[in-house]
Amino acid sequence: MNDKMLKALNDQIREELSSAYLYLAMAADFEDKNLPGAAAWMSQQAQEEVAHAMKIYGYINDKGGKAVFDALPKPQESWNSMLDAFKAAYKHEQYITDCINKLVKQAREVDDTSTEIFLQWFVTEQVEEEKSTDEVVQKLQMIGDSKNGLFMIDRELGGRGAGSGSE
Ligand code: FEO
Repeated sequence: MNDKMLKALNDQIREELSSAYLYLAMAADFEDKNLPGAAAWMSQQAQEEVAHAMKIYGYINDKGGKAVFDALPKPQESWNSMLDAFKAAYKHEQYITDCINKLVKQAREVDDTSTEIFLQWFVTEQVEEEKSTDEVVQKLQMIGDSKNGLFMIDRELGGRGAGSGSE
């Protein structure tokens, strides 16, 4: 594999693991604030991010490259509200979409068809990732300061299981 492409894929492993770190920090903050549903949602999201990293790790190995790991940035520890955290998650997913789009562009530039095809899964996945976080943002905006509404959304988020989330 082209050296720059390999480096860019390695960088994306770090981005995915950083996402896991961020979402786990959000989960911990929700746990701390007695929001178990939101905590479970974010904890599952963190696991999905690890799966994304593993997908890229596996691909690098399949192509005969070697995965090299960089340090992960320390995530924020606390958010003012559930809305603030989900807004940050949505913004983060938009950033990840941008990263994936840049990788696709790079694969095209170096004429690396297999990597371009490999990345298609991530392109589709990002549509789902943005949608699922934005949906929660919109619901939270709708309920405003209602404690009842927050309680209900937390319960709904806790029901996220097989089939309702993305991979
Ligand atoms: Fe791996 Fe949430 O993007």
